[in-house]
Amino acid sequence: MKKIISVVGARPNFMKAAPLMRAFSPYADRVKNILVHTGQHYDAAMSQVFFDDLGLPIPDIFLGVGSGTHAEQTARIMVEFEKICAAESPDLIIVFGDVNSTLACSIVAAKGCIPLAHVEAGLRSFDRTMPEEVNRIVTDTLSSFLFVTEQSGIDNLIREGVPKDKMFLLGNTMIDTLLRLLPKAQDSDFLERYSLVPKKYCVVTLHRPSNVDTKEGLEGILGLFAILSRKTSIIFPIHPRTKKMLSSYGLDYRVREIPNLFLIEPLGYLDFLRAMESSVFVLTDSGGIQEETTTLGIPCITMRNNTERPITVEVGTNVLAGSDVNHVLTACEKTMSGDSKKGNIPAMWDGHAAERIVQVLMAKLYSKE
Ligand code: UD1
Repeated sequence: MKKIISVVGARPNFMKAAPLMRAFSPYADRVKNILVHTGQHYDAAMSQVFFDDLGLPIPDIFLGVGSGTHAEQTARIMVEFEKICAAESPDLIIVFGDVNSTLACSIVAAKGCIPLAHVEAGLRSFDRTMPEEVNRIVTDTLSSFLFVTEQSGIDNLIREGVPKDKMFLLGNTMIDTLLRLLPKAQDSDFLERYSLVPKKYCVVTLHRPSNVDTKEGLEGILGLFAILSRKTSIIFPIHPRTKKMLSSYGLDYRVREIPNLFLIEPLGYLDFLRAMESSVFVLTDSGGIQEETTTLGIPCITMRNNTERPITVEVGTNVLAGSDVNHVLTACEKTMSGDSKKGNIPAMWDGHAAERIVQVLMAKLYSKE
C-alpha cells in the first residue's frame, strides 16, 4: 500500500484537486490518499462551499494556518506540514497551482526527500513581482513529476533545464471539473436570484495586489464600473482582499452610488460557473478564469500586463488589456459591440487530464517493485 498526501489550501486549488481525488478512487486498495487542507482560505464562501459543490472529501487533516504576511503564512504551513510528513511518511506529495500553500509544502517535501508532483507546472508570467510567479518557480525546481497544462509550460521548463522525462503534458484538471459540473451548473438559480438576462450582464473578479492594493487602482476600477454600468449590469463577487482594501480606503460609499453594480459575496463553484457561461464577457485578473472562459467560449478581458497562460490568448477567447483602465474600457466596449474572439479549446482540455495523471503516477509509484 502506497501513501500519498494531496495538499489544498486556497480557493483555486480545490477545482484542480477534486478530479485527481476521484481518479485515484479506483486504486483505493493500492493507494491511501490523504487530503490535507492548510486553511490558507478559511471563510465558508472561500472554502467549504467548494467542498460541497465539487464533492471533495472532507480533509483528513486541517492545518488551520489562516492569513498573514507571505513569510508568516508560508512558515506556519511549513511548520505544521512538516509534522504531518514526519508522522505519515508518505511515498508522494501532490501540490496544485501556485499559491503559498503550494510553495510551503513543496519545500517541506524536498527537505524531507519525499517525491513531489506538481499539477499545473511550467506556467510563467515572467513577472517576479507576482508572488505566484515565485511560488511556481520554486515548486517546479523542487518537483520530481511536473504535470503541464499547455505547451508553453513545457517550453519554459526545458529552457530552465528541467529534464524532459520529468514533465508530462496531459491536460488541465481544472477543466476536468468544469466539464463534469457544467450540466449541474445549469440548474443553479443564480440568474433568477438577481433578475439577470443572459448576455445582458458582465462578470468581474479582481483581487490581485497589483490592481486592488492601492487607492488609485481601486478608484480607477470604480470609475470604469461607473461608465460600464450605463451599458450593462455588472456582477462583482468580491474577494475578501478587495473588500478589505475598499473599506480601508473609505471607498465603500462609491460602490453604492453606481447603478447596475451588484457587489456580492464570493460565489460557490456552481453559481459562478452559471454566472460566467451566460455573461456577455468576463473581466478578471484571475489566472484560472482565463482558462475557464476559453473553455466556455466566453470573451475574457484580463486586467493584467502579462499572463502565465498564453494559450488562452493564442487559441482561446482571452484578451490581455493591461492595467490601464482606459485600455480596459476600450476592450470591454469592443466586446460589447460584438467584436470578440471566438476561440478554440486547447488540446487535451477534454475532461480526462486527471485520469492520465493518475496513470503516470501509479506507474511511477510502483516502478521500483
Ligand atoms: C491567494 C493566492 C492567489 C489566488 C487567490 C485566489 C497566494 C500568494 N495568493 O490570494 O494566487 O489567486 O488566493 O483567491 O497564495 N481572506 C479572508 N478570508 C479567507 C481568505 C483570505 O478574509 O478565507 C483575506 C485576508 O484578509 C487575507 C487576504 O484575504 O489577508 C488575502 O488572502 P491570501 O490567502 O493571503 O491571498 P489571496 O489574495 O486570497
